[in-house]
Amino acid sequence: MATKPWFPTYVYEAPLQGRGNQDFTRALLDECHKVREGDSAGQLWCQENYPAGYTSYGTLRQLHRALPMFADLERKIWRHVPRFARRLDMDLREASLVMTDCWVNIMSRDAVHPLHLHPGAIFSGTFYVRTPPGCSGIHFEDPRLEKFVCIPPRFPDCRPANRQQVTYGVEAGKVILFESWLRHGVVSSPTHDERVSVSFNYAWV
Ligand code: NI
Repeated sequence: MATKPWFPTYVYEAPLQGRGNQDFTRALLDECHKVREGDSAGQLWCQENYPAGYTSYGTLRQLHRALPMFADLERKIWRHVPRFARRLDMDLREASLVMTDCWVNIMSRDAVHPLHLHPGAIFSGTFYVRTPPGCSGIHFEDPRLEKFVCIPPRFPDCRPANRQQVTYGVEAGKVILFESWLRHGVVSSPTHDERVSVSFNYAWV
């Protein structure tokens, strides 16, 4: 066959670690709740900027440099980053990838995370801490959509690589990595229980 795919978009997904993942994730959930409880400025920020949810993004965005549990999380996430970079054949010898931001997200039933990207970063991702059954996944959109001035629809059963959007189901204990220019978002969850995650950025410095 003479037709080949080019310019693929990669999303990485893996359990954070093979052993002790459940215990670590449970302990981190307590830390996430403590961050919210102690962040009255952030709670105010969220009333304006993140209705029905809490995120430390506006106030405590470098938790990996402030709290030991999040520093530990950074070390565990770091094991995955070079694997993802290798899969993309990225030559990172001239500089280092460094986690620049790390923040907590607690989404209740009506919280929404509209489609967005993370300018200024190379890789972004999320570690899932609590995922009630049926909660929303993370939604990715084909980065070329804005260029599709005129394109016929795809068959519903088209090949996965030809889809224009995909939703990854999320699971506590798993980490997802993607390139920061990839547009993503989270729709509201139909569940009453809170969905808790920690998001992060890596920059090339
Ligand atoms: Ni994001």
